Amino acid sequence: MTARARTIYRCTNCGADYPRWAGRCDICGEWNTLVEEAAPRVASATGLKNAASRRAAGPGSLGAGGSVAPTQKLRDVVGAAEPRWTTGLAEFDFVLGGGLVPGSMVLIGGEPGIGKSTILLQVAARLEQGGHRTLYVSGEESPLQVRLRADRLSDKASDVELMSETLLETVITTASSISPSVLIVDSIQTVFTADLDGAPGSVGQVRECAARLMRFAKDTGTTVFVVGHVTRDGGIAGPKTLEHIVDTVLYFEGEGMLDHRILRANKNRFGSVDEIGVFRMTATGLDPVANPSELFLGDRLSHASGSAVTALIEGSRPVLIEVQGLAAKAGFGTPQRVATGFDNRRLALLLAVLDKRAGLSFSQLDVFLNVVGGVRLQDPAGDLAVAAALASSVYDRPVGADAIFLGEVGLGGEIRPVSQSERRLAEAAKMGMKMAYMAERGIPSRAAGIKAIGVATVGDLFRRLFQ
Ligand code: TYD
Ligand code: MG
Repeated sequence: MTARARTIYRCTNCGADYPRWAGRCDICGEWNTLVEEAAPRVASATGLKNAASRRAAGPGSLGAGGSVAPTQKLRDVVGAAEPRWTTGLAEFDFVLGGGLVPGSMVLIGGEPGIGKSTILLQVAARLEQGGHRTLYVSGEESPLQVRLRADRLSDKASDVELMSETLLETVITTASSISPSVLIVDSIQTVFTADLDGAPGSVGQVRECAARLMRFAKDTGTTVFVVGHVTRDGGIAGPKTLEHIVDTVLYFEGEGMLDHRILRANKNRFGSVDEIGVFRMTATGLDPVANPSELFLGDRLSHASGSAVTALIEGSRPVLIEVQGLAAKAGFGTPQRVATGFDNRRLALLLAVLDKRAGLSFSQLDVFLNVVGGVRLQDPAGDLAVAAALASSVYDRPVGADAIFLGEVGLGGEIRPVSQSERRLAEAAKMGMKMAYMAERGIPSRAAGIKAIGVATVGDLFRRLFQ
């Protein structure tokens, strides 16, 4: 048994440290910002306990406790880029930027019950089949519970090494002794280190455990996955506290009762952050959806008014998405504007443009906008579909089942060209679309299988659609 490391309390706002916890930081005056952490060993070894005493001891002491480390020219740095390990779960590898990077640390965040444990168990099963030894540490479930989950999966997870443990020191010692290629810690909120007094899940514990796991990953070349629960209110001690520590942050999202899940990279030191992976939760685990457009358009009532389709670029691939608008007579008071999957202020702006430039008044109407499938429409190319869906609802006339809308709408009501229109059109043609309304200037010279119709303004578009 080693002696307990000394702990200090550090203000997460200004960084001041204190020997004891207090409700308020005396230096910056913030409340509830003191978090327990392990005292830095180097500093105490030199007797220079904190930054202030180092400064007081003069410049010569600023590096006390360190040694001269070798440096090298950047051009002399050698070593081939590490090959990535693929899990074979295509959508998962895709979001990671082409597979797992050895020695990296990946955080998977999401609300409880979304499927984080399930996907990691599937990843573990596939890695194990690919010859990468995997250790799955569960602090939340008993081995039997994990076994029962594994039995449901279509992926064969029986060779995955399993441990039910919450003491971080034991986790790391065990991992060091069996040296797996991949270590999965489910979840970071349940593990704790004996060096800190805080309860598992507290900010101090979560950060210290994550930092140690990160060091373990770098030192041993093990890829470490940690699960982090997100609470409804954004959550203290949730994944947000860890985002800066880890290499990659993936969020697993899903919409209430829908059975599909979207995996999204939020930070990735080894790849792009715009990629999404789409999965469907089935009775035998998560199934990758290779063609998201099919899923998102699957339930579309193509002859209903208020529905328009656009093609977004999600990371490196185009995806067709349905936008639904509903403009209904408002009761008394201020009419409502409710947008799901779309920025509320952008909606207000588009409503003002439609009013001013196309004579569509929404002042007496409640407006609801929904981007189908839990997708977030952030690409400005979606503006035109939003405008078309809203106008279609006002006129109560459908826009045509086989039309897509591509364009950014400007304040003057003008329609601007979008990036990568050729790829968007190709995806639309693949999904059976026949017409694309877009800015004249944005029409690519080659648009196979789909008729591109140039429109200059929103008024121009509505005249074509509804007159
Ligand atoms: P889980 O992975 O336990 O979520 P998390 O770790 O994010 O809290 O997923 C739990 C949900 O998934 C649960 O409601 C049951 C469902 N599920 C299936 O529908 N099919 C399956 O094959 C499995 C394993 C789980
Ligand atoms: Mg879980």
